[in-house]
Amino acid sequence: MNILLVGSGGREHALAWKIKQSPLLARLVCAPGNPGMAAIAEIRDVKATDVPALLALAREIAADLVVIGPEVTVEAGLADALAEAGIPCFGPIAQAGQLESSKAFTKGFCDRHGLPTSQYRVCEDAAQAKAALAHFEPPYVVKADGLAAGKGVVIAMDAATAEAAIDDVFAGAFGTAGARVVIEEYLEGEIGSLFALCDGKTSMLFGWAQDHKRAFDGDEGPNTGGMGTYSPAPVFTLDLVDQIDHRLVRPAFKGIAAEGAPYRGVLFVEMMATRHGPKLIEFNCRFGDPECQVLMLRLESDLVPYLLACATGRLHEMPAPKWRNQDAVCVVLATEGYPGPAKAGSVIRGADGDFGPDVTVFVAGASSGPDGELQAGAGRALNVCALGEDLGQARERAYGAVALIDWPQGFHRTDIGWRALSR
Ligand code: AMP
Ligand code: GLY
Repeated sequence: MNILLVGSGGREHALAWKIKQSPLLARLVCAPGNPGMAAIAEIRDVKATDVPALLALAREIAADLVVIGPEVTVEAGLADALAEAGIPCFGPIAQAGQLESSKAFTKGFCDRHGLPTSQYRVCEDAAQAKAALAHFEPPYVVKADGLAAGKGVVIAMDAATAEAAIDDVFAGAFGTAGARVVIEEYLEGEIGSLFALCDGKTSMLFGWAQDHKRAFDGDEGPNTGGMGTYSPAPVFTLDLVDQIDHRLVRPAFKGIAAEGAPYRGVLFVEMMATRHGPKLIEFNCRFGDPECQVLMLRLESDLVPYLLACATGRLHEMPAPKWRNQDAVCVVLATEGYPGPAKAGSVIRGADGDFGPDVTVFVAGASSGPDGELQAGAGRALNVCALGEDLGQARERAYGAVALIDWPQGFHRTDIGWRALSR
């Protein structure tokens, strides 16, 4: 098979790494890719949002399957264009993608189809949003409506901080993502990321993990796109997984199909396990980053048949995926300053070292410098991942490798997996 994989982050490097192991693969082309992906596949300098150029590339390489990594490609409508061209695509059409691209849409969707989520108000301007705070208790949750790379959420302990956050959003801190604001009820509980595949009709659970959204140890600091993950995560008991499947996953796929946009791809359910059962925090229309990295390490089955089955309506023919009976950890290395302004261009040394068979390093936001050195971008640059017989061993191996990487301008959390280890 010829496969075109769209995206350039650690998630896509992990997908490329796993796809590359498939005996079904003839040719893997990644656009735009990154230096990690360039080492294992062909890369083409086509933007992840340039739908006409991606369609042309899919045709040029006679792609049997196009795999969409990031949300921006979903929002740009690549799946729509590929459907018209008759090219199988893993990744939903833009209408279904609103489950991620608009928090206001998703809240209305939950109401229409009875999915449990927090109480909320959608607000069109700052005055309305500030007035809405009176309907909630602290901590206040203030969210920009659109895509903001995991950074458009502020949890404010008091009204003054919430009001400042509202002003920031409407002042354009998150660009067009902040044209509207959603204020919502704060949910108490433990958070988790669950993944489910769908081919438009049939759905299948596809693993779970726990992310660490805050920038610093002890869950301090601002929200990020995710600073590290581990899988499996003990919050996901069999009972909880079953509840998520029946209350969130199946109603979501059924609801979005009933609204005329059958879902083909992976749905990422970010949920809070509350006293009243699982409640939706948000949907994402793609694999999580860095959740995908730990899932790919643990996935024993060939990934490609699952991706193809989603794209071609044959998921009902597939058995449940097989997972390694091991734990996986991913530690994110980011440029100092992230998720705020950070200086791109520092050099990372030693990322391609030999860390042993249980450690895998994925390149995220980094590019290749003039002499082939790895240059960090202004955000999450590297994902150091490891498998172990238990979480402690996986974590030791991952941090052992992190210690061998020479990058003075980078930082990472040192407590990935703490919730599970402190149980
Ligand atoms: P999101 O971008 O919606 O995933 O939100 C970022 C992070 O903010 C989540 O991972 C949670 O840790 C936290 N969060 C978002 N919404 C809520 C909520 N309603 N209650 C409590 N925490 C929340
Ligand atoms: N790690 C969370 C996300 O991908 O949005």
